[in-house]
Amino acid sequence: MRKYTDSEIRAFGLNPERIPKHIAIVMDGNGRWATDRGLPRAAGHRAGVNALREIIRFCSDIGVESLTLYAFSTENRRRPKEEIGILCGLLIEYFNREIDELHANAVRIKSIGDLSWFPPAVREAVQNAMTKTAENAGLKLNIALNYGGRAELVHAARLALEHGEPLDEGTLSKYLDTADSGDVDLMIRTGGELRVSNFLLWQIAYAELYFTDTKWPDFTREELIKALNDFAGRERRFGGLKTDGAK
Ligand code: IPE
Ligand code: IPE
Ligand code: MG
Repeated sequence: MRKYTDSEIRAFGLNPERIPKHIAIVMDGNGRWATDRGLPRAAGHRAGVNALREIIRFCSDIGVESLTLYAFSTENRRRPKEEIGILCGLLIEYFNREIDELHANAVRIKSIGDLSWFPPAVREAVQNAMTKTAENAGLKLNIALNYGGRAELVHAARLALEHGEPLDEGTLSKYLDTADSGDVDLMIRTGGELRVSNFLLWQIAYAELYFTDTKWPDFTREELIKALNDFAGRERRFGGLKTDGAK
């Protein structure tokens, strides 16, 4: 739920009229963050989870409508069993620890991707968080778990066909996991890689892309403000021509 007034938002150096409605983040670089410090990769994942709170809170406070976070891709299933186990443990811990604060801030949690692949304890933790926050009217927080953009599109097309609906852009959008969050305005990727890695392929058609070398555990509110300022300075034409009102 938005907490700050326009002038408070300006005090952060931000333009309140240029806050993206939907932000997506590829939270990459946890492993390298840990390796840089001579720590096991697990320590990087833990630090990554800890970085979430400040970012989610700030997005909520400045009135971002939707935040979609890439936590585990369909391709991440290729990782060693041990690392997957650690990530599952962290997910359970995260939801149990943060759910009350998220709920108090009217955040609505939704997982996107195929949850059925995860062990029951993970499914239960995620499901509880979704059920508890389902009626909340604040920030829509989508957490991508065992998510792949291609799988999502295939799934949406199947649903459209099952319902006997025409396969057009409107129908497909309606059956996407993120249907109620719409297109992405700003996609951020931390960790220095310049790729999309099968995230929200449809929804980023006209997203502004922001890449930073900062690894996810070091992505603070100040880093997010930098990304938001970069976004605010972009001229979004959507294929049209520059309009007088646009910056
Ligand atoms: C992102 O960090 C988190 C997940 C993919 C789960 P990585 O684990 O990919 O970290 P790097 O890219 O190896 O540094
Ligand atoms: C993308 O990071 C997925 C998540 C952040 C969950 P990866 O580390 O899996 O991506 P690649 O392998 O570098 O493309
Ligand atoms: Mg990575």
